Amino acid sequence: MDHAHLKQKALSYVEEAAAFIKDAMKNTYGIDTKANKDDLVTDVDRNVEKLFIDKVAKDFPDHRLMGEEGSYKDIDDLSGYVWILDPIDGTVNFVHMGTYFAISLGIFKDGEPVIGIILDVMNDEWFVSEAGKGAELNGKRLPQLPDVALDEALVSFNTGWVLKDTRLQEIVKKARGTRSYGSAALEMAYVASGRIDAYISMNLAPWDVAGGWAVLKEVGGVATTYEGNELTFLQKDTLFAASPSIYKQINAHLK
Ligand code: IPD
Ligand code: CA
Ligand code: CA
Ligand code: CA
Repeated sequence: MDHAHLKQKALSYVEEAAAFIKDAMKNTYGIDTKANKDDLVTDVDRNVEKLFIDKVAKDFPDHRLMGEEGSYKDIDDLSGYVWILDPIDGTVNFVHMGTYFAISLGIFKDGEPVIGIILDVMNDEWFVSEAGKGAELNGKRLPQLPDVALDEALVSFNTGWVLKDTRLQEIVKKARGTRSYGSAALEMAYVASGRIDAYISMNLAPWDVAGGWAVLKEVGGVATTYEGNELTFLQKDTLFAASPSIYKQINAHLK
């Protein structure tokens, strides 16, 4: 099935949401904490989700939306069309830095990604995919991921994960360098565009990874849990996303 219409609509909502965010940044906005003092949410996150809830209900009444700021509570299966949305991925960056955050959207049909959109709002970088039709960065086709040697690779994870699994020290030593950007969606988009070669996390939700997986899949990338199991997009989990060659090489070190 051709998803061109769905993609155009989704792109227009993301564009509108980005304009809303930029406008909201001119004023002060409310900031709250959720699970702990470092788990931030703002009025802007909530309002962006509301924008998508209204648009999808109006234009695609038989589609469902799973967003981080509340709408996920209604979703416990992926049958039909489900929009998996992170209204702002990288809220800590948004609040502290005013940059390096993204709107991340994966539209799934019966559990499989059909559209992926990750927008780096302040840098105006659009990572967009359509199932079977490849992925693009700002309209330019992204190539299939090439083979890379680990000693020439950039690997990204929060430094805290090295404390959790000391085997990652080996990866830190072997890789050319490590990075940490504070937005899972952008880190997956960076893997998809070959800027980095792997991204690992010990704790992510479906909305952190859905858009990223939609884009990464189209360039031949791999994404599983850290333990190597299939992602379900229905629960919090670990993540190991990489180019196929780096996925194999890192796995060999984790054995
Ligand atoms: C967070 C970011 C961050 C990752 C966290 C996520 P949020 O998403 O993706 O990089 O390390 O685990 O929760 O809360 O800013 O949407
Ligand atoms: Ca959050
Ligand atoms: Ca997120
Ligand atoms: Ca978020």
